[in-house]
Amino acid sequence: MIPDRSKAARELLDFYAEAGVDAAVGEQANDFLTTPQPAPIPAPSRQPPATAARTTFPATAPARPAVAPPPAADAAVMAAREAARSAATLDELRSILDRFEGCSLKGSASRLCFADGTPGSRLMLVGEAPGAEEDRQGVPFVGRSGQLLDRMLKAIGLDRAQVYIANIVPWRPPGNRTPTPVETQICLPFVQRQIELSNPDVLVTIGQPSTGALLGVQGIMKNRGRWFPFQTGTREIRAMPMLHPAYLLRSPIGKRLAWRDMLAIKKALG
Ligand code: URA
Repeated sequence: MIPDRSKAARELLDFYAEAGVDAAVGEQANDFLTTPQPAPIPAPSRQPPATAARTTFPATAPARPAVAPPPAADAAVMAAREAARSAATLDELRSILDRFEGCSLKGSASRLCFADGTPGSRLMLVGEAPGAEEDRQGVPFVGRSGQLLDRMLKAIGLDRAQVYIANIVPWRPPGNRTPTPVETQICLPFVQRQIELSNPDVLVTIGQPSTGALLGVQGIMKNRGRWFPFQTGTREIRAMPMLHPAYLLRSPIGKRLAWRDMLAIKKALG
């Protein structure tokens, strides 16, 4: 019997799509089952990178990742810092980010997903990264977790127009994977500047990646609901990590904790 190769290919693509692999990230398809693989890269030394001493962060900025970015990534982080600093307004920041070529996520995403809500709102929320629906619309938190976030905000009397929402990385990672430490470090200066320019009174970091990147703390379960000081660049504000709505959709038992956190946010806003 002649195998139906196009049927098999379609089934394989369906399998990939179901597993979340729905973006091609290279021009060449690699057959990793038959292509000889390069020797593994030796584990990096635990010594701090020589460049670490040159880099200064504000008090609340995260520690550098345990694995130092490669030199090209270091240059991209420097370029991102300079570009972000040069933006005088949020509109300028958006167009600078749209032209920024230092982060490879831009190549696989459909579009920039900069922000939603009202700049200058007293409450700003920062999530992890756009998903498939956000990538289609170019707006953060419009998929299933965004709809849950809307309901959580509504429970404390807020809607989207009364808050400002962004993500740590503004381009969708392929297959919705977590952004890598390097991608996060490259995008961080932009979201830090976005916070500074929007100038909220209260910052909420949604989920561990955003909490780790902005507040420098690990362990969302132990840190959610706690207040941390956050330097925006012009002043100190209060910041609180909360559980990600995507997690709450998978583990509804966490909604009890999320409700407590929403009440604490409401109280902080007065
Ligand atoms: N999850 C996020 O963290 N951000 C979005 O914009 C959507 C889903």
